[in-house]
Amino acid sequence: MIIGIIGAMELEVRVLKNMMDSASVEKISSVEFYRGTIHGVDTVVAAAGVGKVNAAVCAEAMILRYAPDAVINIGVAGGLRHDFNICDIAVADAVVEHDMDTSALGEPLGFISGLDTVLIPCDKSLSDKLFETARHVGVNVKRGVIASGDQFIASRENKDKIVKSFGAIAAEMEGASIGHVCAMNNVPFGVLRAISDGANDDSVTDFPAFAKKAAENSVKIILEMLEKLSREEIK
Ligand code: ADE
Repeated sequence: MIIGIIGAMELEVRVLKNMMDSASVEKISSVEFYRGTIHGVDTVVAAAGVGKVNAAVCAEAMILRYAPDAVINIGVAGGLRHDFNICDIAVADAVVEHDMDTSALGEPLGFISGLDTVLIPCDKSLSDKLFETARHVGVNVKRGVIASGDQFIASRENKDKIVKSFGAIAAEMEGASIGHVCAMNNVPFGVLRAISDGANDDSVTDFPAFAKKAAENSVKIILEMLEKLSREEIK
C-alpha cells in the first residue's frame, strides 16, 4: 500500500518530508516528489504549488508514476462556517470547483464536463478515517463540502456566494482539482484542511499570521492516521 499526500505550499508538507525515512526525491513536471516511509507506511509527498492547474498536474504525475492506493490533500483553508475557529479542521465528504461556470449554456454552476457532476464525492471510508482521527486527536472537526477555485476568498460577497451555491464549509484552491484528477483515474481521495482564516475581510492579515500554525494541525492529524494505518497493517 502506498499513500499519496499533496499540499499546495511547502509549509503544508515540510514536516512530513523532513520526518520521512529512506526518502528519495524525484522531480516530475517541476514538482518534487518525496518517496519513503512515515511511521512505517509507504508514502509519496509533494508540494504542488497554489491553484487548480498546479494541483492537477501534481496529482496526475503522482498517480501515473507512483500508483498510490489513495491520495489525501492536506493544508489550510478559509472557514465558511460561523462556528469555525482558527486551526479547526474541515474534512470533505465531497469537493466542488466553485469557479467552474458554464451556466450561460444552461448548466448548473460548478458543473464539470466529462465527470458530468457538480459535487465530486470523496472516498467514504478514507473520509471516515480522517474524521475519526481528527476527533481522536481532540480538535474541533466538521465534515461537508469543500470548495476550490483559483481565487483567494477574502470578502463577505465571495464567501456568501460559495456558501449559498454549494453549502460549502471551507474554501481553498486545490482540493477539487485533485479530486477531479483522482476521479478520472479511479483513485480514492480525501481532503483534510485546517482553518487559517475566515474567508472574509480579515483574511489578508489572518492567513499570513496563522497559515503555518494551521498547517501544522493538519499534518498532526495525518501523522496520527498514518500511525494508525501502520498498526492495522502489522495486525
Ligand atoms: N486557503 C486558506 N485560506 C483561503 C481563502 N480564504 N481562500 C482560498 N484559499 C484559502
